[in-house]
Amino acid sequence: MNDSITSPNTERKHCIGILTSGGDAPGMNAAVRAVTRAAIYNGFDVKAIYRGYKGLLSGEIVPFKTQNVSNIIQQGGTILKTARCKEFETAEGRKTAYETLQREGIDALVVIGGDGTLTGARIFASEFNFPIVGLPGTIDNDLYGTDTTIGYDTALNTIMQAVDKIRDTATSHERLFFIEVMGRDAGFLALNGAIASGAEAAIIPEIATEVDQLEELIKNGFRKSKNSSIVLVAESPMTGGAMHMAERVKNEYPQYDVRVSILGHLQRGGSPTAHDRILASRMGAAAIDALLEGQRNVMIGIRNEQIVYVPFSKAIKNDKPIDRELLNTLRTLSI
Ligand code: F6P
Repeated sequence: MNDSITSPNTERKHCIGILTSGGDAPGMNAAVRAVTRAAIYNGFDVKAIYRGYKGLLSGEIVPFKTQNVSNIIQQGGTILKTARCKEFETAEGRKTAYETLQREGIDALVVIGGDGTLTGARIFASEFNFPIVGLPGTIDNDLYGTDTTIGYDTALNTIMQAVDKIRDTATSHERLFFIEVMGRDAGFLALNGAIASGAEAAIIPEIATEVDQLEELIKNGFRKSKNSSIVLVAESPMTGGAMHMAERVKNEYPQYDVRVSILGHLQRGGSPTAHDRILASRMGAAAIDALLEGQRNVMIGIRNEQIVYVPFSKAIKNDKPIDRELLNTLRTLSI
């Protein structure tokens, strides 16, 4: 049955299940809308699964029509709710999920989320030979094989706006600010957030083992033409976070008047930017195209503005490298 998803038959329309999982990201709703509408346009039924894999286990499933996704393209968060589900990490949990899918007559899944979501999808798809297509929905931008992920651009803009505001007080008081941004173990938000907001530096996990980034910063004398400085720090055990940096400065370089600001979950909220809405719309429609083409167990990515299919194994297992040119740009411009 699973193999025939590519050709909707006349006796029973094939049904596509859709869920969002893991940390929410602005643009997830735009993706839910796109998947739902593209599926219906192509003759499929759609069922929405609430609360990610958790809802798949407990059967929180509702048929979706085009109206169910009206007026959501501009909304942050996810109307399907989301969760991180430990039970889905167990073989028993995944068996229950499969039974739910059978019972609900769902023939294929589109899952929207980050690393954890796609890891779960990959294991499930191989255990049960079940067709799944993934969409990269995470502010972290840490999935390999795609230039950007749904939610990343919005989070970046949120960070930029927050840093612009902090700069006002940093300048007035002539202080050194460490601003901690999200990203789990990736420095994309910190690095590009620093460039976009004209910060002096970014401290990121990707180069944490290569160089003492704080020492390098102090050695270079921060920005010489100004008495205040802003440094973005990626949250990660590799950097130690903004508090750790501030503690080090207090102990090692007490001449600086240092403050910390942790941006936290405000980075995950808000109405998605045009970029994220368009990305989510394209990727959502592409997920249905992929299923129609017989693709399975792939993540939809975007490279050089073109939609690409990235096998789950590649998207999850490879570390997405940061662009060293961006590091150089930041260093060059922060003199
Ligand atoms: O993966 C998205 C993300 O926002 C990370 O940047 C962050 O480390 C994590 O989720 C926070 O997760 P939670 O909301 O479960 O605390």
